[in-house]
Amino acid sequence: MCGIVGYIGKKECTEVLLNGLSKLEYRGYDSAGIAVFDSKSKDIKTIKAKGRLKDLNDKLKTEGGLKGNCGIGHTRWATHGEPSDINSHPHGNARVTIVHNGIIENYKKLKEFLESQGYVFESQTDTETVAKLLDYYYDGKDPLECIKEVINEIEGSYALGILFKDFPDTIYAVRKDSPLIVGKGENESFIASDVPAILKYTKDYYLLDEDEIAVLDSSGVRFFTKFGKQIDKEVLTADFDEESAAKGGFEHYMLKEIYEQPNAIKMTVTPRISNGMPDFSESGLTDEMLNGYKRIFIIACGTAMHAATVGKYVIERLARVPVTVDLASEFRYRNPILSKQDLVILVSQSGETADTLAALRLAKNVGAATMGIVNVKGSSIARESDIVLYTHAGPEISVASTKAYMVQIAMFYLLAFKLAFIKKTISKDECKRLVSVICKVPEIIEKVLELSDTCSYVASKLISSENLLYIGRGLDYALSMEGSLKLKEISYIHSEAYAAGELKHGTISLVTEQMPVVAVATQRELFDKTMSNIKEVKSRGAKVVLITHKCMSVDEEAADYVIKLPTVDDMLMPMIAIVPLQLIAYYSSVLRGNDVDKPRNLAKSVTVE
Ligand code: M6R
Repeated sequence: MCGIVGYIGKKECTEVLLNGLSKLEYRGYDSAGIAVFDSKSKDIKTIKAKGRLKDLNDKLKTEGGLKGNCGIGHTRWATHGEPSDINSHPHGNARVTIVHNGIIENYKKLKEFLESQGYVFESQTDTETVAKLLDYYYDGKDPLECIKEVINEIEGSYALGILFKDFPDTIYAVRKDSPLIVGKGENESFIASDVPAILKYTKDYYLLDEDEIAVLDSSGVRFFTKFGKQIDKEVLTADFDEESAAKGGFEHYMLKEIYEQPNAIKMTVTPRISNGMPDFSESGLTDEMLNGYKRIFIIACGTAMHAATVGKYVIERLARVPVTVDLASEFRYRNPILSKQDLVILVSQSGETADTLAALRLAKNVGAATMGIVNVKGSSIARESDIVLYTHAGPEISVASTKAYMVQIAMFYLLAFKLAFIKKTISKDECKRLVSVICKVPEIIEKVLELSDTCSYVASKLISSENLLYIGRGLDYALSMEGSLKLKEISYIHSEAYAAGELKHGTISLVTEQMPVVAVATQRELFDKTMSNIKEVKSRGAKVVLITHKCMSVDEEAADYVIKLPTVDDMLMPMIAIVPLQLIAYYSSVLRGNDVDKPRNLAKSVTVE
């Protein structure tokens, strides 16, 4: 979490830094700040403010702004210390000023040491320890030596942008377990936590590897290992532009991203089909490898974990290979029983989620095969997995994940089809038929998007409730979990997902007229069972929203609102039925007047435990 930026070039850097931060606000928005080498005095000047970027902008105007061509900036998701002006970044003193994304785990010990050396701390942050430690080691001559000393001492995760007063118009940067890219423009260079922050100026960038140090000045960028050896790095080019990372006429990123889903599926699925069959050879995943795995573990957090749950249902159903789904934060501490014949799949939009990354490292340590299903190119999980299957959703900016979920499940369908064919649990013809069905899904979703007004109307009937239940069976239960998370994270209505058959074992006691129930019933073999469960809640006064197939006949009195969806194979219905759930969540948030794309207390990329 947190976003950092830096600029050195010919432009006024305040504008460049603020523009970059505006693209990174999704990573945290508790406070923001910038530090700039003042063009006249060459002193480092800092302005920072609690709140959104707008508050920083206001403060910059009131205080006369900052003028210079080199600076660093930060947008914060608070971990250590409440959101406040004093805890905002940049931190440091007149000699050394830094911005930081990550967590310094041994900061208490370091702070005690620094206090014993006479340093006085102002903030409650872990970051201030790094700023003061840099100052402690800095001898006025060689910033590189000083950074090497500091990264030897700090434990935890960090992406750091550093200014040394004695080296004006130079930015130092280093990272470990937190993302950082270095942008390469015409006579200008950048640092940023994510590519969209530099796209207005350049599409070319370098990926900084663990503990590599970058030095950016007017002559360009140099890279060093943590031992001080200078190295060359490959320039990468972003495969999307500023426009595709902007709102494009939609009121919110989330709505835009919901509407981008048909295209995201095409981009993810089409390149992986050859002669009508799923084909992963480009990623180095061979039939022999797939055939060799005895068990599959799928590890992820949040929405990605819900996609993993759909993956489990379809892989087990089609390929008859046992699949375990785990929350990454649980998996890493439960001493899981893994072997070299197991495949561990890590699912992550950002590719930087701390718990998922830790689970990946744990799996690698025991020698299991690892596969990342990742959206962000070059992210840590992508780089460290044995095999990476990139989803091609394009940049997902809204904190609430939509199109990334869609392409994650699309990837699981393709994997399940392939695995089932290799394991001979389905024929080649059946495999081809399933592939042809998934190829039609984008068109069908376009039709579902026409139900947007209906979803908005349904949302208007739900927003006065403080609690809600989502129910479903089988794949519909997996989907309900995602529908429920989407609603609660952006509308702030408390909701839980329940396996419809489980309600009567306790939770049904909560059902009253004040507790609406959203029921998902798209699995024909389970339809009658779910309908019975719907009757049970309806007879206890619940208002019911039913999401089902067009072809199902539903009694008028069975539900208060029915959303009927176009029909595809039941197994692929999650790709269709998630859309109204996303739209209901979206409109509930809009109607409640919430900040849809930046819900309170959240950040897009969770790089802390
Ligand atoms: O980047 P990741 O896919 O690893 O992120 C995992 C979760 O933090 C993420 O899906 C989160 O649950 C979303 N806010 C849900 O909309």
